[in-house]
Amino acid sequence: MTRRIIIDTDPGQDDAVAILLALASPEELEILGITAVAGNVPLPLTARNARIVCELAGRRDIKVFAGREKPLERRLVTAEHVHGKTGLDGPVLPEPTMPLQSRDAVDFLIDTLRQEPSGTVTLCPLGPLTNIAAAFLRAPDVIGRVQRIVLMGGAYFEVGNITPTAEFNIFVDPEAAHVVFRSGVPLTVMPLDVTHKALVTKARNDAFRALGTPVGDAVAQMTDFFERFDREKYGSDGAPLHDPCVTAWLLRPELFSGRDINVEIETLSDLTRGMTVADWWGVTDRPANATFMGDVDADGFFALLTERLGRL
Ligand code: RIB
Ligand code: CA
Repeated sequence: MTRRIIIDTDPGQDDAVAILLALASPEELEILGITAVAGNVPLPLTARNARIVCELAGRRDIKVFAGREKPLERRLVTAEHVHGKTGLDGPVLPEPTMPLQSRDAVDFLIDTLRQEPSGTVTLCPLGPLTNIAAAFLRAPDVIGRVQRIVLMGGAYFEVGNITPTAEFNIFVDPEAAHVVFRSGVPLTVMPLDVTHKALVTKARNDAFRALGTPVGDAVAQMTDFFERFDREKYGSDGAPLHDPCVTAWLLRPELFSGRDINVEIETLSDLTRGMTVADWWGVTDRPANATFMGDVDADGFFALLTERLGRL
């Protein structure tokens, strides 16, 4: 049964790999559209990068939309220090020639959820949740029509990567995250707790290169670039492939394990803004609103990823 998805994204090298994995899996995933949001880099660049990735995969047919250029209430915080000035530093890839759709991404999200049969569209946010929240706030009737949201964001045991308590995607737009986590839509969450276990070790990077394809080479160069930040900061043995965990769950959920728990978003405190307060031990009576992932079969994840990338 093909799952019909919309990828909401702020490419970012790891977003790029998540999109490539989805594009390499047409039997399982039908991509209705890709919506760009400001995050790792400003919106014009995320909208550019999303199209670069589609063209790298030979998929100029994919509809790419530009959404919000800043968070709901706060000023934009970007992450060029991680992703480079373009957001897709590493490989040298041609400027996109495929067009950006003229319709706004938030309109596309609302229109699609209204037009498609209820419960048949999965949303896959890989960046700040601004576009998703904007759609829900403007058109609350679409909330109940979403099949599931599978997102990369948050952290609990692994704590934060942009502040001591917050993961970047949630930190950038905590108000948007609050809307999404309180929406009642079934949520599958890939926090740093699990994405920091999906590390591109040298052997895994070599396997990308061994594909001997433009996609394999580009992914190897992207992760080479992307890893320097995490290696320096965490001493980790390679780049954490955060966003591809979302796509991999759609393809092989059994690679992941987690718990159905309550997760609330800190929006008031400056100190802990954007923290995902995960009730992992069930110490409150707050209702479960998310499947919060804690572990991944990393070898299985990379075997799936490498095999699929080899198809492009
Ligand atoms: O904190 C990691 C997340 O922030 C990833 O989605 C990465 O692409 C950035 O958006
Ligand atoms: Ca991202």
